Amino acid sequence: MDLSPDPRDVDPRAALADLMAFYAEAGVDAGIGDAPVDRFAESAAERSTARTAIRPAAASSSAEPGAPSARREAARAPALPPLAAAPPPPDRAAADAREAAASAPDLDALRGLLERFDGCPLKLTATRLVFADGNPQARLMLVGEAPGRDEDIEGKPFVGRSGKLLDRMLAAIGIDRTQAYIANVVPWRPPGNRTPTPQETAICLPFIRRQIELANPDVLVCLGGPSAQTLLGIKDGITKARGRWMEYDTGTRRIQALATFHPAYLLRTPLGKRMVWRDLLAIERKLAEPPSAG
Ligand code: URA
Repeated sequence: MDLSPDPRDVDPRAALADLMAFYAEAGVDAGIGDAPVDRFAESAAERSTARTAIRPAAASSSAEPGAPSARREAARAPALPPLAAAPPPPDRAAADAREAAASAPDLDALRGLLERFDGCPLKLTATRLVFADGNPQARLMLVGEAPGRDEDIEGKPFVGRSGKLLDRMLAAIGIDRTQAYIANVVPWRPPGNRTPTPQETAICLPFIRRQIELANPDVLVCLGGPSAQTLLGIKDGITKARGRWMEYDTGTRRIQALATFHPAYLLRTPLGKRMVWRDLLAIERKLAEPPSAG
């Protein structure tokens, strides 16, 4: 006996709602395709088709562009929406980022410059800038990879599930967000939480470097491999690189830096918590030392 529903009984709207609910449960929260789509090229093509459609009418009147009939045609033509400015090519964007970041005299100015910076394509898909949370005067600074969905909604780093775990990790050594400054290498959420591309990271790098320099912590902690690779230049995987003290040159002084597992990794791999506990104790000991002049 065929138990499948009669297609005539299926309400397409209910089916669509079920499908959306299924996607939401599965964690799909951004409408992206399998392959990249160049929306700028699409809208540029639409504009040029619209222009070609207007031109023959004016030309068929054999009038000069400024002649009355041409002006009438132009007046009848629908106003074309302004084309969203495409981000500059990655090399230009990275050079613009270096120049902008270097010009920031303090963290507020840096945040303002980032708000106005259009060089990173992630800004087009993110809801908002996720600049920092915590205390910029703190001796401890932690840097993650990039904001996720919850951070994109709230505009603060590490507020989702991995943020809650990060808070518990810090609480284990008596630290809360009034005693730590928290940021990300990339301050805009990549669509669907994908890993930022090397170009996106390179464009954002001058800003996080300047942010570290201006916050001027004594101890820098990179959360996860991508942050450690970007900021500490390590080539090893995080399992090998974690727990080793290194020097980080802020541009004005050398500070102590350590890589540890990302809290999101710990949520998937609770066994890693043992090693992170050792890293936390090392951070606690380091903070008990007097700050070095660098
Ligand atoms: N993961 C990160 O790397 N940063 C956040 O802010 C949240 C999750």
